[in-house]
Amino acid sequence: MATKAAELGVIDAIELLTKDHDKVENIFTQIEQGVTADTGKELFTKIYHELTLHSIVEEQIFYPAVAKNPQFKDLLKDAFSEHAQVKQQLGDIAYLEPGSAEWTKRLGKVWKELKHHINDEEEKLFPKVREAMSEKELKSLGAELEEGKHTKLDGDLLSMPLGFAKEEKKSSAKGK
Ligand SMILES: [Fe+2]
Ligand SMILES: [Fe+2]
Repeated sequence: MATKAAELGVIDAIELLTKDHDKVENIFTQIEQGVTADTGKELFTKIYHELTLHSIVEEQIFYPAVAKNPQFKDLLKDAFSEHAQVKQQLGDIAYLEPGSAEWTKRLGKVWKELKHHINDEEEKLFPKVREAMSEKELKSLGAELEEGKHTKLDGDLLSMPLGFAKEEKKSSAKGK
């Protein structure tokens, strides 16, 4: 049965973040099935953008809202440092040859760590947040996240590390 919020396209914060996790998992699964230099680069770019956007709205909107409740302090402290580690590793991987052995190995390591972070969110943090907040609060937070993803953040924040994006333009200009 569609609620008013669902009709308006508002999903709750936890559903929205879980959907993002699923999207990222799907891209890593495609990479695990094997990539060429071109598909590897395309999938890496998708991962980079998805994770950048996801971590920005978690760090700027979701975590601060959740942090108002002191019971989440420790879980959130881990979350911030895990985001930072993933970001740093993705920044390094952006300079490797997509699909190469080193690229595949390092991306596999990131995915292993990320899976741990996602499991912690989905199994420890999210269920407790769902208990602590009302559905109304979660929907309004979901709307804020949605707005953050679509309006507050512009493309500049999501640009690839230096060099990578320029190369991307060069190769598409050649029509390849
Ligand atoms: Fe997350
Ligand atoms: Fe996270």
